[in-house]
Amino acid sequence: MRKNIIAGNWKMNLSLEQGYGLASEIKWMVSDEVSNKCDIILIPPFTHLSGLNSLLKDSGIKLGAQNCHHENSGAYTGEISAEILKSVGVSYVLIGHSERRTFQNETNALLANKINRALENEIQAIYCFGETLEQRDAGNAFEVNLSQIKEGLFHLDTSQIQKVILAYEPVWAIGTGKTASPQQAQEIHRFVRQALTEKYGEATAGSISILYGGSMNPSNASELLGCEDIDGGLIGGSSLESRAFLDIIKAID
Ligand code: 13P
Repeated sequence: MRKNIIAGNWKMNLSLEQGYGLASEIKWMVSDEVSNKCDIILIPPFTHLSGLNSLLKDSGIKLGAQNCHHENSGAYTGEISAEILKSVGVSYVLIGHSERRTFQNETNALLANKINRALENEIQAIYCFGETLEQRDAGNAFEVNLSQIKEGLFHLDTSQIQKVILAYEPVWAIGTGKTASPQQAQEIHRFVRQALTEKYGEATAGSISILYGGSMNPSNASELLGCEDIDGGLIGGSSLESRAFLDIIKAID
C-alpha cells in the first residue's frame, strides 16, 4: 500500500539557528507524541541540510531539498545538483514547485530532466503540479494538471515512477489561506491517479503517494487527509511552527 507522508517545505525562511531550533522541537515532539504514523520530511533551505542531517540522524525524520539542477555538476554558478544533495544526506527533492515554475520560469521539459537527475542519484522526487485560479475559472484545471503530469513524468518507466511522490498544489491555495475543499482536492487526486493507472497500470498507480498542498493547517488537515486519494500533505506556513506541524501529522488517520 502507498505511504502516508507529511512534508514541511520551509521555503526561504528561518536562519540556521532558527531552523535547528524548529527541527529539534519537531524531533522531540515526534518521538514523544507519534509513532510510525507516517513518513515525515523536513525541507529546509540548502544551507541547513548538512547540519540537519546530523541533528535528525536516528530520528526517522527524513530530509528533503527544495530544488536541484538538471545537470550533475559543471559550470553553473549558484546552483546545487542532486549529486551534491545526495552527499549531504538528502533523500527527497521538490521538483516543479509552483513558485519556481512562476519565478524561475521552470518548464515541464526542464523538470523532466531534473527528475532524471534526482532518480539517478537515488533521491526521491516530489513532483509538484497545480492550476492557477484563472485556469480553474476557465474550466481548464484537469487539462492543465494532466499536461504537467504527462510532460514532467510520463517519460519514466514503471520502476522509476514508483520512486516519485506527487504533490497537487493548486496555485490559488498556496499561502493564501484559501484551501481547496476536500471535494475539489479529491477530484483532482482521483483524476491524476486514473491517468497514472492508464499509463502504468492499477497496481503501480495505487502504490504512488499523492500529497495535497495549499494552506493546509491543523483545522482543515483531517478532512483533507481523510480523502481516499490524498496520501499526505506538503505544508508551507504551518510547517514553520512545531505545534501546528505536529497537529497535522496527528490528523493522519
Ligand atoms: P502553504 O501551506 O503556506 O500554503 O504552502 C504550501 C506550499 O507551497 C508547500 O510547498
